[in-house]
Amino acid sequence: MCGIIGYTGHRPALPVVLEGLRHLEYRGYDSAGVGYVLQKKLHRVRAKGKLHNLEDALTNLGAAITVSCAIGHTRWATHGIPEERNAHPHFSNDGTLALVHNGIIENYQELKAELVQKGYGFESDTDTEVLINLISFCRQSEPSLLAAFAKALSLAHGAYAVCMLDCEAPQTLYAARMQAPLLVGKGVGEYFIASDIPAFLASTRDVLFLEDGEIVVASPNTCSLYTLTDIVHPLKREVQTIQWGIQAAQKGGYRHFMLKEIFEQPTVIQDCLSGRIKADNHIDLPELASMPLPKQIHIVACGTSYHAGLWGQHILENLAHIPVTTEIASEFRYKERFLIPQDDLVLVISQSGETADTLAALRTAKEHSIPTLALCNVLGSSLAREADRVCYTQAGPEISVASTKAMTSQMLLLTCLALFFGEKKGVLDPLQQKHLLATLKTLPITLANELPTMHEKAKFLARKYAQAKSFFFLGRGHCFSLALEGALKLKELSYIHAEGYACGEMKHGPIALIDPHFPSLVLALDDAFYPKITSNVVEIQSRQGRVIAITNPGTDIAVDDRWEIPKVLDPLSAFCVLPCLQLFSYEMADYLGKDVDQPRNLAKSVTVE
Ligand code: M6R
Repeated sequence: MCGIIGYTGHRPALPVVLEGLRHLEYRGYDSAGVGYVLQKKLHRVRAKGKLHNLEDALTNLGAAITVSCAIGHTRWATHGIPEERNAHPHFSNDGTLALVHNGIIENYQELKAELVQKGYGFESDTDTEVLINLISFCRQSEPSLLAAFAKALSLAHGAYAVCMLDCEAPQTLYAARMQAPLLVGKGVGEYFIASDIPAFLASTRDVLFLEDGEIVVASPNTCSLYTLTDIVHPLKREVQTIQWGIQAAQKGGYRHFMLKEIFEQPTVIQDCLSGRIKADNHIDLPELASMPLPKQIHIVACGTSYHAGLWGQHILENLAHIPVTTEIASEFRYKERFLIPQDDLVLVISQSGETADTLAALRTAKEHSIPTLALCNVLGSSLAREADRVCYTQAGPEISVASTKAMTSQMLLLTCLALFFGEKKGVLDPLQQKHLLATLKTLPITLANELPTMHEKAKFLARKYAQAKSFFFLGRGHCFSLALEGALKLKELSYIHAEGYACGEMKHGPIALIDPHFPSLVLALDDAFYPKITSNVVEIQSRQGRVIAITNPGTDIAVDDRWEIPKVLDPLSAFCVLPCLQLFSYEMADYLGKDVDQPRNLAKSVTVE
């Protein structure tokens, strides 16, 4: 979604802001802009399309190179098409205030109508321009700009993160958040306001996390926090230091972030397990200490995290004997009848911890007093702060819009959870536990050894099948959720139509689509389902469908393309299957010339409904 960066300090602000925007590009956007005060007048430069258009527009900065406070924004269109006039910052009618904004002001139509009646005019279709004029209007009756800012924001309904400049105080940034991420970076003689950490990570790792309903006023040497309802008594907030550096948010020699993140998976597995497997071969999750065993678990998530949840359902039911449901967050949040009892657990999964639907689902569960647990990657994210308990997936920053290593870390944590609950419940077979833990420990090495071969095979297959207009991804058991994920990856990256199906479901309709131009990628591992899957493959082949099979050495499946991966103890084989699917989509998209790290129409963190 949109990205915000504000800077106030001692350095030329526009290069800092542009650099910040570059680090926010991964969030997805379709226009960008910067704003600053020069000689007591507000200025802005905005451009449709990618950041280089904005950079081109900023080549002759002239005196503006001296400004040491500025705001910047990447916009992902919600209200109004992606045009320069809709790009941020937006100015108040009197030209004294400038605002960048993420989120949606739900009552902007009513607010706009009132402002129009009072004589305000609007150049854009955005809710942002309404908000900045509302602040400007409130300024006429409030004792200070801070009071006007707080008053206007309390009249706005919806989600927002905002950062504002005032031409009369050119070194001061005003910012606030409500259900949309915003944080403060603290440097030496400088402050940053941003929607995500990478925007300022090259300058500082010291962060102040803001809560919903909080306001921050920052100038080079001071930063004060207030709430919307109290702008007199400043809040105290501890500075937190981020453990990862800027290298983690750079490509590190890889062609794309996605490829780097796929290749990071062995390390991610190691990091996620570290400290969680004890020397006595038990899983330790101190975050869950004293938590009663839930009668039933309800997993709620979106997109790739939902697929990790579906995989986790399989593992939790099999290892911990706890019944599990898995639901898409945008459905869960609007349940007409909420029938979940209070001795169950709602388990929300999210890489970003800011996904609006997942956050709303969590809040719904909390309103009904259901215990909640979040599996989350981003430290201090809304989900992490609002859930009763949180287990961090420790995957490090995921920059590519397509989620890869985050899913691996989520599946790993779900495995830990299943082993933890299974042991606690006394249902875990000690021998199975021993074998699973031994396999988990060797997974990083197994995967690190295999990734280069997988990559070569993916390259070969992508070129061979690049002309396909549609694909099936098929699996059974725990591989069904991986098939869904394989299809999602191919769709979002290469824009090729793809559907994930349970193999056994093909004969109930989808097989009608099979012809020589509609290939299937089948997950045919050497496991209990293998005989069934081979029958399904024969049915596809009888309709002249071409088949790629991800399988293990020694199987006899005869298909157009065998893709052999080492045999790993089930269900942990998933940790070798998943990277193949990711690499296949990555190579397909790259070969077809698509924007791998920022696929069209998508955003990294979907903070609106
Ligand atoms: O941050 P979250 O895990 O909550 O994000 C959920 C989905 O938006 C995300 O997984 C999305 O589906 C990705 N583009 C998939 O690659």
